[in-house]
Amino acid sequence: MLWTATVLSGAAQLTAAEDVYYKIGTTDEIRETSRTLAYDLMTHYNGNQSGQIPGILPGPPLSGRGDYYWWEGGAMMGTYIDYWHLTGDTSYNDVITQGMLFQVGDKDDYQPRNQTIGLGNDDQGFWGMSAMLAAETRFPNPPKDKPQWLALAQAVWNTQAEPGRWDEFCGGGLRWQRQFFNNGWSYKNAIATGVFFDLGARLARYTGNDTYAQHAEQAWDWLWNVGYIDNKNWHVYDGGHVEHNCTDINRLKVSYNPAVLIHGSAFMYNYTSGDEKWKYRINTMLDSFLKQFFKNNIIFESDCETRQPPCTTDMLSFKGYCLRWLAVVTQIAPFTRDTIMPVLVDSARAAVKQCTGEPSGRRCGFYWTGGKFVDPKTDNTTGAGEAMDVLAAVSSLLIDEAGAPVTADEGISQGDLNAGLPDAEANKIHFRMITAADKFGAAMVTFLYVMGPALVFFWICMDETSDTTGTVKKEEAASQEPSSGDAS
Ligand SMILES: *[C@@H]1O[C@H](CO)[C@@H](O)[C@H](O)[C@H]1NC(C)=O
Ligand SMILES: *[C@@H]1O[C@H](CO)[C@@H](O)[C@H](O)[C@H]1NC(C)=O
Ligand SMILES: *[C@@H]1O[C@H](CO)[C@@H](O)[C@H](O)[C@H]1NC(C)=O
Ligand SMILES: *[C@@H]1O[C@H](CO)[C@@H](O)[C@H](O)[C@H]1NC(C)=O
Ligand SMILES: *[C@@H]1O[C@H](CO)[C@@H](O)[C@H](O)[C@H]1NC(C)=O
Ligand SMILES: *[C@@H]1O[C@H](CO)[C@@H](O)[C@H](O)[C@H]1NC(C)=O
Repeated sequence: MLWTATVLSGAAQLTAAEDVYYKIGTTDEIRETSRTLAYDLMTHYNGNQSGQIPGILPGPPLSGRGDYYWWEGGAMMGTYIDYWHLTGDTSYNDVITQGMLFQVGDKDDYQPRNQTIGLGNDDQGFWGMSAMLAAETRFPNPPKDKPQWLALAQAVWNTQAEPGRWDEFCGGGLRWQRQFFNNGWSYKNAIATGVFFDLGARLARYTGNDTYAQHAEQAWDWLWNVGYIDNKNWHVYDGGHVEHNCTDINRLKVSYNPAVLIHGSAFMYNYTSGDEKWKYRINTMLDSFLKQFFKNNIIFESDCETRQPPCTTDMLSFKGYCLRWLAVVTQIAPFTRDTIMPVLVDSARAAVKQCTGEPSGRRCGFYWTGGKFVDPKTDNTTGAGEAMDVLAAVSSLLIDEAGAPVTADEGISQGDLNAGLPDAEANKIHFRMITAADKFGAAMVTFLYVMGPALVFFWICMDETSDTTGTVKKEEAASQEPSSGDAS
């Protein structure tokens, strides 16, 4: 346990020399610190109070209710599932189960009616990944009359694998937004496709069904061929527009894009019993990721952490997912362990070091490399993403004591191959409608370009009410020019 020794000696030096609130020198201290961080994160959530909506963080932004889009609630649910898995603390399991089940929507596929207007494939995908995680960690099953974790993940995957969703524009890939009237509908992006890749890889490994793996391969190949994965340096770019056959690549780089691809590749590697191709992809992507998004082994959101331009609220939560995913990669692709463990340790140390904010004296901010607390208010948020990141960083240090993601042999979750799919006849009609909508949508896009400025205001409102991970949301909303998404 090389890394444990590193934590021990390093943290002892740290606590001796500096006045930090949190200690992470021993397993018990890591567990205790995680507990307090989990408690503090929960103070941002009011979904289990009467009159509030379970599953979501206060928001969406334009409603005036809070800073957070719908998807981030799903991402937080996943963070607590990992928290339980890593620490054994069951305190939040009921709250999480309630939230996870409340947002499933009428068809049990994480497309709830309230979110229809602004639903992104990536948003739906994040909820799906949390359901998948629940299956992989043997999180307690929902009551029998409710949808089950594995079936929910399959439902999300099934809806996204459909030809109406994974369409032929740009030769494949997923669009960002689900609705043709949303600006992001013409935008095919890395995260929507990356999450679909990840979910497919995980479903393949869990169920042993190769269909999921074939789609995952296809998703990877598409990202590679279209150049969202830079064929030279393996940077992962944000996306491009169907009007340009996805060649107008927005070179914005955010951490969760390469991280989700490393995570999915690790599942493919494990599913294929160690295929060299996936090993190469993991190694090369990991190397590129560590070079871009770590400074002295400490994770940082390189394209926006210097605030030029500032990180969006969404982006402020990405570090947490990256660290949790990397931790799992050490379990299912063990050859990465010696590379990954040191960055997990150093990142967690830096994370807790800056948690000195008032009024509690232990509030956490977003900026870890500087070693000083910066109030989340500076970035116009209340700090749920920031708190999630630190909880993820610290609890992930317990990865060696936690079980690896299980497969169906050991799993306890009930799946449903047809979850999320309409029946055969309805399916045909649905497909016809989508095809029609596609044409209408294309006409609509043209119309909007022609109408231009007169519609900008309407456009912005439409976009701002939408729930998305929004890597380019603001830039896109601000202009009719498709290439304006380029924020880098
Ligand atoms: C909501 O959940 C938190 C965390 O488990 C708990 O402390 C709080 O009492 C719950 N509130 C209600 C109204 O159930
Ligand atoms: C949808 O919105 C309504 C009105 O705010 C709310 O009462 C309901 O709980 C919401 N449902 C979901 C699944 O978010
Ligand atoms: C594998 O999954 C696909 C996609 O859901 C499904 O169509 C197929 O029937 C499954 N195969 C088996 C053997 O379960
Ligand atoms: C559009 O892009 C896809 C994927 O890169 C490519 O296979 C196809 O040939 C392109 N089509 C045209 C007309 O350039
Ligand atoms: C696959 O994952 C398991 C943990 O579930 C691990 O023991 C095994 O070594 C992994 N397989 C390969 C080829 O690395
Ligand atoms: C926070 O909001 C203020 C006022 O709207 C704005 O001037 C500032 O640029 C915002 N800061 C960030 C980091 O977005």
